[in-house]
Amino acid sequence: LCAFVAPSQAQTYPTRGITMIVPFAAGGPTDVISRIVTAHMAQTLGQSIVIENVVGAGGTTATARAARAANDGYTLITGHMGTHAASVPLYPKLAYHPEKDFEPIALLAGTPILILARKDFPPKDLKEFVAYVKANAEKVNAAHAGVGSVSHVSCELLHSILDIKPVGVPFNGTGPAMNALVAGQVDYMCDQIVNAVPQINAGTIKAYAIATVERNPSLPNVPTTTEAGLPAFQAQAWNAMFAPKGTSPAVVASLNAAAVKALDDGTVRKRLLELGSVIPGPADRTPEALATLVKNEIAKWTPVLKPAS
Ligand code: MLT
Repeated sequence: LCAFVAPSQAQTYPTRGITMIVPFAAGGPTDVISRIVTAHMAQTLGQSIVIENVVGAGGTTATARAARAANDGYTLITGHMGTHAASVPLYPKLAYHPEKDFEPIALLAGTPILILARKDFPPKDLKEFVAYVKANAEKVNAAHAGVGSVSHVSCELLHSILDIKPVGVPFNGTGPAMNALVAGQVDYMCDQIVNAVPQINAGTIKAYAIATVERNPSLPNVPTTTEAGLPAFQAQAWNAMFAPKGTSPAVVASLNAAAVKALDDGTVRKRLLELGSVIPGPADRTPEALATLVKNEIAKWTPVLKPAS
């Protein structure tokens, strides 16, 4: 039997599947957070949400594509501190503007940054790491997810504090960069916690410190940068959902409500917290709060970062 669908219901968003662009490789932090949250949102919205990983140029290739997508609510993007803030000063010819070309939907997660290294990297703790990379700045290398990515920007900040310029090794995301770190092919990385917890707990990599004021409950044995002797290095990234500019307020409201519902769900929260994420509280989950965050983050990073070339 075919169920009768009234015309008003038939027109209610969403009437078909939604594509969520993830601007980095599968398995990395942006991908993992997107999959956890959108799986629940799809139940609320009654339509599938398909993740499409579009890689390149520190996430800016995919973000430019999302900016040009139809603003009908069927193509969205999970952006972050890199794609929607740090990219502005780093790419003078950026093909989009985070504020002008997007409708903010919701902040999904805060993600503390850790200093990580391959398991057999010689330094035992952060003090030794600092001395070692300063003494060997021309030999060591730091993996990252492309110019403007969180991992790139975070280690740029670390390197400016240490006054060194080691070689960077770009990947299409810190998912593949983490594989290279585990395999011992690169020396160290400044990565978001959600990518690091499983590997730290499995003992496949070293964690020197977490760059936040307090230790993270998911990694109680990893000291803060302050405890470990480098208080100047403080870094926490964020991941958030955006739609192309001009997406209707009703669609944005519907997506925001579904995202908020996901962030209140016990299973979603458990998964995000196990991976060390900071789940935004009610005041930080509105589109307006995300617009303010993007504005403030662009203002914060613009004087700090110089164009890549
Ligand atoms: C980054 O460094 O920006 C991220 O870790 C990207 C990713 O999700 O792989």
